[in-house]
Amino acid sequence: MPLGVGIVGAGRVTQAIHLPTLARLSDHFRVAAVTDVSPELADAVAARVGARPAPTLEDLLANPDVEVVAVCSPDRFHAAQVEAISRAGKRGILCEKPLASSTAEAEQLIAAVEAAAIPLVVGAMHAYDPAWLEFRAWAGTALGPARVIRSTIILPFNQTMEDYASQITSPPQAAPEPGPAHGAAARADEDDGPEARGIVLGLWIHDLPWIRTMAAQTPRVHSFVARKPWGAVLAMSAGAVRIDLLAYMRELWESDWRLQAWGDDWSLRVEIPPSYVHAGSATITVATSDGERVFGPSREDGYDAEWLELHRLVTRGGNPCYPLSVLRADLDYAIAIADQAAAAVDAGART
Ligand SMILES: NC(=O)c1ccc[n+]([C@@H]2O[C@H](COP(=O)([O-])OP(=O)(O)OC[C@H]3O[C@@H](n4cnc5c(N)ncnc54)[C@H](O)[C@@H]3O)[C@@H](O)[C@H]2O)c1
Repeated sequence: MPLGVGIVGAGRVTQAIHLPTLARLSDHFRVAAVTDVSPELADAVAARVGARPAPTLEDLLANPDVEVVAVCSPDRFHAAQVEAISRAGKRGILCEKPLASSTAEAEQLIAAVEAAAIPLVVGAMHAYDPAWLEFRAWAGTALGPARVIRSTIILPFNQTMEDYASQITSPPQAAPEPGPAHGAAARADEDDGPEARGIVLGLWIHDLPWIRTMAAQTPRVHSFVARKPWGAVLAMSAGAVRIDLLAYMRELWESDWRLQAWGDDWSLRVEIPPSYVHAGSATITVATSDGERVFGPSREDGYDAEWLELHRLVTRGGNPCYPLSVLRADLDYAIAIADQAAAAVDAGART
């Protein structure tokens, strides 16, 4: 019997990413209920998938058909909503990235999930990418330390991708204060490019768990420069590892999302399909003195994999791919970078 899913927040990530994923996984999940602060939007999205609209989160949690809950609201609501879901005795949670926006929220969220002892999966799909997991299992002992890491994310605006993925239904009036990027289109007209914390916790957060596996020490940010219409360059180091992040979104159709890393005798290239469009897993090429090895691509992408991980943990148990301690450490890493990037902007503004 498929697990009943309750969805909190019926906006773009729900419509363009999670509903298509859940439709592909209909043997595992059925959408039971949808809530949103816009009742009209909850009604429309629920009707589209044969689910019940719920006026509030409390109503959704009171529905016994809701066994697991997906938190797809703006970032600042994640911690309190995950806490409410944990207290309600539900069987598992998928919470969109970032799990939380501050250390205090992170503590609140982790404490609630720990107390409830239920599975938590974060909607950071690259962390669950099948090719990445296969590569990590192999790389455990095979590679020496990284020296230089570079992330490049060149993408069309999210809205372009959302339009490829689905026909988005919007609430009658603009949703109250939409969350920060990866909801990047909302910020495309800003004068100075994206805000530092938003781009770190909204976009680069997808690559940071990967980067942390190769550069575990909390990074020190050297510079952050935003670029119009929506992009930035961030330079940092983690101990002896130099890390450069580049992101740039614009109207043009161009997707070039890649992570590269170099050690003394190896190099790594991860090519990542754009979000939203279910184009399969990453393709990972590792070159060592023994030659080249390629992982992926597989048809299953990180979105499928994160939901399948939740299903496995809820129905069969076992060890999570990422225990709470790892989810927390990934989040702390990202928040530390976001805070420093914001401080670098403030310092620049004062000079
Ligand atoms: N994993 C990914 O690829 C990916 C992509 C985009 C967004 N996201 C994440 O998904 C989340 C939502 O992003 P989005 O692009 O869908 O934003 P959105 O603004 O399109 O949708 C958010 C929805 O939540 C509703 N909402 C606001 N406050 C709420 C509350 N307190 N309770 C219930 N609903 C509420 C809004 O009315 C809106 O419909 C963010 O955390 C974002 O970082 C993840």
